[in-house]
Amino acid sequence: MRPDHLHAPDRSREHGAAGGAAAVAHPNIALIKYWGKRDERLVLPRTDSLSMTLDILPTTTHVRLDPEAEHDEVTLDGVPLEGGARQRVITFLELVRERAGSSRRAAVDSRNTVPTGAGLASSASGFAALAVAASAAYGLDLDATALSRLARRGSGSASRSIFGDFAIWHAGRPTGSATDADLGSYAEPVPVAEFDPALVVAVVNAGPKDVSSREAMRRTVETSPLYGPWAASSEGDLVDMRSALRRGDLDAVGEIAERNALGMHATMLAARPAVRYLSAPTLDVLDSVLRLRRDGVPAYATMDAGPNVKVLCHRTDADRVAGVVRSAAPGGSVLVAGRGPGARLLAEGER
Ligand code: DP6
Repeated sequence: MRPDHLHAPDRSREHGAAGGAAAVAHPNIALIKYWGKRDERLVLPRTDSLSMTLDILPTTTHVRLDPEAEHDEVTLDGVPLEGGARQRVITFLELVRERAGSSRRAAVDSRNTVPTGAGLASSASGFAALAVAASAAYGLDLDATALSRLARRGSGSASRSIFGDFAIWHAGRPTGSATDADLGSYAEPVPVAEFDPALVVAVVNAGPKDVSSREAMRRTVETSPLYGPWAASSEGDLVDMRSALRRGDLDAVGEIAERNALGMHATMLAARPAVRYLSAPTLDVLDSVLRLRRDGVPAYATMDAGPNVKVLCHRTDADRVAGVVRSAAPGGSVLVAGRGPGARLLAEGER
């Protein structure tokens, strides 16, 4: 695998005024969580994480280079982005331009089917799609590893959405070398047995969260006395998870995912001041998951930086699980996801 910094940009491949490039990516849900950075600028995590890419809620992103434009233009679902969200995309484009040796501005148009900023992994699908579309538009020839590293710079969890099915994101190790490629922090596919899991997504609140995951994880690392012990135990969870996935053992996968997520939320609750994403409807859904298990249905919960709950179960139980979860949180909506594909460029005819 060639490190991405060795790739010479190919100017003839830059898709100037003509069509640009478009890509689609799906969200992923971590079964072993990423929570805490060791380097904010490079988006290097403190721990390895592991996720399942979903087959629902894709983000589609078009990137068109404009030789005339003085500024980048960024829209999300047709609405111009402003403030920090816009800046985050522009900082990302700067990174791509630097690698491509280009100064051309871009028009970025992103369409999300994920409620943005609500703990439903919109930044994962968003930056994975942007990494694939922008690198193609600027003529960079990146392999999947390099794309994963690039997507990571936009949002850590996006590194995993480059891949379908199950992916592990390696935290990497300090090397003393200045290049990102040497840091070893990228995602790659994880071998799993043939099994057919579903994630039932209970959206109890689709509104944007009060505290961003970026700020919440920073505060947790800096102030929570539980952070260190959780990060240490997450290493063991990862080893157990990989073995459970190799066996296709849904009960073990679910138990490990649930304890890892509850532990992550415990670290936040112990932060100063506390970060609490779990709301009353979240707890109602968690209770319903326990009831399902008591009734003999294997179902396990995981939650991210928001109040929504994702319930892992066998595909064959998904309708039943969705029904129980729906009645536990009647104000919300419920979606059923299976194993989804990795990010990819769209062909001309698909745009
Ligand atoms: C709780 O990837 O959104 O969903 O790197 O700061 O953009 P940034 O954070 P982000 O954090 C996701 C955290 C999580 C767990 C996970 O997806 O592993």
